[in-house]
Amino acid sequence: MKAWYEWREAPSASFAVIGDPIEHSWSPLIHTAALSTAGPEHRYVAIRVPKDELAPALYHLTELGYLGVNVTVPLKESAYRLSDPDDVAQRYGTVNTIRLGDRTSTNTDAGGFRDSLQGLIESPSHALVLGAGGTSKALCRVLAEDGWRILIWNRTRERGESLLADLGFQARLVDSADPTGAGLILNTTSASLQGAALPVLWERASHTALAYDVSYGVEPSRFLQDARRSGLNVLDGVDMLIGQAARSLSWWLGIEPDRKAMADALEHLRWKP
Ligand code: ATR
Repeated sequence: MKAWYEWREAPSASFAVIGDPIEHSWSPLIHTAALSTAGPEHRYVAIRVPKDELAPALYHLTELGYLGVNVTVPLKESAYRLSDPDDVAQRYGTVNTIRLGDRTSTNTDAGGFRDSLQGLIESPSHALVLGAGGTSKALCRVLAEDGWRILIWNRTRERGESLLADLGFQARLVDSADPTGAGLILNTTSASLQGAALPVLWERASHTALAYDVSYGVEPSRFLQDARRSGLNVLDGVDMLIGQAARSLSWWLGIEPDRKAMADALEHLRWKP
């Protein structure tokens, strides 16, 4: 079976993850594992949608009878504008889950992110967040709600400034990715998807800090490899992926998916710490 599709060639299915690039996505695997117990009629696929084609793609998928989509890089901010965000999505300022029938949307990244941090960090301190896109916006809001002090570094300073203006709470923009004193170093950028390195001053990081990359893959990202070399604890985006996927399915279908089955479906792909 084909792993992913262009949106104009989307097959008959109920749900999809949309983004660009999309071939790396593990969402079909975990959703398929969860949906196999929820009714065989639901199929979940990966579909490539370029950034400026979200509006026609959503229209097309709705016409084809899709019930919902998960939205990933680089579509999250446009998805907010093209849908009707619920209270949760408004609170986190970005959406990753859309119901196509009525175009309502929500954010399950925030909950999935919280799920993934449980038991890993004793108390919030300060966090260095890399990136200023839609993912960063949602996760900065979660961190602020949970009592973290936030430093944001972004490749393009202007975008960082516009994120700060948008967040509306105390966070600071920094010119250098200096993790001195940070308990959490969070990579929300899509640099890992390109195999690109980030200019983190790893030698200044505390050995008790957690380096967390929201991306995932069969090998640790450059960011996580650099962190490991500096002796830090690391976490990739798989636990958050499972958390947000389970929450999306609950929101669409009112079911409580089997998270263990979802995790098992990825076991053969995950790298071991
Ligand atoms: P999302 O909505 O998922 O956050 P996005 O809005 O496309 O995706 O944001 C991508 C983020 O990754 C941005 O912060 C981007 O930095 P710029 O604002 O400077 O574009 C960041 N990013 C992408 N590639 C990067 C790279 N090679 N190095 C550093 N940052 C990168």
